Formats: sequence, C-alpha cells, structure tokens
Amino acid sequence: MRALRLEPSLHLGIEAIDRQHGEMVDMINETQALLEAEESGDQLVQILNRFNTLCIDHFSTEEALMREAGYPDLAQHKKLHDGSLERAFGFDAASLGRDKEAGKALLQLLRDWLLAHIHADREMAHFLKAQGIR
Ligand SMILES: [Fe+2]
Ligand SMILES: [Fe+2]
Repeated sequence: MRALRLEPSLHLGIEAIDRQHGEMVDMINETQALLEAEESGDQLVQILNRFNTLCIDHFSTEEALMREAGYPDLAQHKKLHDGSLERAFGFDAASLGRDKEAGKALLQLLRDWLLAHIHADREMAHFLKAQGIR
C-alpha cells in the first residue's frame, strides 16, 4: 500500500486544521510502517490511543473555530465528530495484539476515515475562510 500524502487537493486552507490533518496522515503512515515491520500489537494499540487523542484535540480546534465564526451547521458537524469518536473507541484494540488481519483492518479504517473526514470538513472550511479565518 502506498504511503498516504496530504495532497494539495486535501488542503483546506485553514492552517491549524491542515496541520492536524497532516499529523493524522503521518500517524497513518507510521501505522503502515509498523505493520510492514511486523511490530508488536502493543505499538499498534499505542498508536490507536495517540490517534484518538489527536482526534479529540482536532475536533476541539474545529469546534472552537466554528463557534468563533458563527458557523450555522456547527451542531450537525459536531455530531459527525462525536460519532467518529464512538466508532474509533469501539475498535477492538485488544485484537491488535493477537491478529495481524486486525492491524490491516485498522490501517484501512484510519485511511478511509481520514479521507471521509477531510471531505466532510470542506464546507466548514469554506465558511471559515469567508469569515477571514486562515
Ligand atoms: Fe478535520
Ligand atoms: Fe470536522
């Protein structure tokens, strides 16, 4: 699987948001490297925990910017965030230590999730930029 890149088409033009999306990309590539090196499941569990922490920070960043800008769909966008956290925390972290396929499933889940997440952020970013937020 090729490493993921935050291509220019995935840049939303809001500095803090793009930076955190970039950190998520790095973490996904780190997950892939761990899987290719057949590292222990413990390291995968650690990365999943770090990814969750980053998501929590990232969602607060976005929600603060939406509040600051008076984004009318804040509640709806926040619901997406809350749903993502529930799903991520619901991932069976314990299975990573036992099962190689679970690591691959995690990688696919994170990649798919991040691309869908960035796509869902586009409208919000558009609004923030219109309010002069960069
Ligand atoms: Fe985001
Ligand atoms: Fe978002």
